[in-house]
Amino acid sequence: MVARVLHDNLGVQQVVIGPDVALEQACELAEAARLDRPELGVILLRPRVDVTTLSSALRSGVREVVPSDDHTALGEALRRSRDLTSRLLGHAGGAAKDTGRIITVFSAKGGVGKTTLSTNVAVHLASTGSKTLLVDLDLAFGDVAISLQLLPSSSIFDAVAMSGHLDEQGLAQLVTVHEPSGLDVICAPNDPGDADRIPVNVVNELLKIARQNYEYIIVDTPPSFTEHVLAACDISTSLVLIATLDIPAVKNLRVAMDTLDMLGSPKDARVIVLNKADTKVGLRPEDVVTAIKTPIAVNIPNSLAVPASINRGVPIVLDDPKNAVSTSIRLLADTHLREVVIGAAEAEADPSTRRSLFRGRR
Ligand SMILES: Nc1ncnc2c1ncn2[C@@H]1O[C@H](COP(=O)(O)OP(=O)(O)O)[C@@H](O)[C@H]1O
Ligand SMILES: [Mg+2]
Repeated sequence: MVARVLHDNLGVQQVVIGPDVALEQACELAEAARLDRPELGVILLRPRVDVTTLSSALRSGVREVVPSDDHTALGEALRRSRDLTSRLLGHAGGAAKDTGRIITVFSAKGGVGKTTLSTNVAVHLASTGSKTLLVDLDLAFGDVAISLQLLPSSSIFDAVAMSGHLDEQGLAQLVTVHEPSGLDVICAPNDPGDADRIPVNVVNELLKIARQNYEYIIVDTPPSFTEHVLAACDISTSLVLIATLDIPAVKNLRVAMDTLDMLGSPKDARVIVLNKADTKVGLRPEDVVTAIKTPIAVNIPNSLAVPASINRGVPIVLDDPKNAVSTSIRLLADTHLREVVIGAAEAEADPSTRRSLFRGRR
């Protein structure tokens, strides 16, 4: 109950737990808050302050334990705790703005539609008014730029020189704007050889700055779990995993999901998409569901309009918005990836409760 109230009221910075609350419960709350909201001050009132109470409380992250009848001590404890909170918030430097959703589009197989989906989802979000960034993490063979007919004057490689001090201005220098939609894009390096010269911490730093400045960050990936992809997955809000109706693609999806399980990535962050879902090749969507033991969120039909739009350099959601492929991509974006404001999705919307997709890895 208290956790719920705290969850819904990010403005609350101090909590005083009364003497009637069991020590164990109080410690649990402090422990959870310490991880999710380190700036939150938890002060515990106890009828008697003994060594056992004090040590369990402090170990769990309670800031101070105060005798319940000592109002002066409580006042002083609150003042100290408020000071600490404001110092922590100061150092956090705008953590409250840190709300962007990072969506990584992945498949361990090439040619299944990662770039098609990531470009179209990103263009759809941007053209409907959301501040959106598309990052091409297919560092060696990225084709986001060519798919969107961009002529980038900078790329993700330019982030290397800013490593350690990348900020909003630095980020802006990496971006090429897709004028028709207003989408910001960070393209892959021009020279595939530069891919190996991008340290993984640059990707991490870039995505962290990006989520302070964008509502959505869509990440296109190469067909393997490179360390860069793992870093992106780790701080992603959602993973879009793509399969098509062929045995290798389904097998690869299984392997990818098992790998993610092994890394502790939560299942509920995954959105499974079946691309070219109406292809008549003997394998049916039901077979895919049976094989991966997970429901498919969206089926995207096969359409020649997709390669045609790519060849024109105009994403299908703009080129042919009435096409069933465009409708499915909008459904994917609007129903499964957009931030849900009302209802049970606060945990997702609330940066203070943001989880690492790989629990325990940081
Ligand atoms: N729904 C679809 N219908 C028809 N062709 C598609 C569809 N989705 C993707 N394609 C085609 O499949 C090819 C591979 O798509 P792409 O997005 O580049 O895959 P990836 O990035 O996974 O390698 C492209 O030629 C694209 O035009
Ligand atoms: Mg691709």
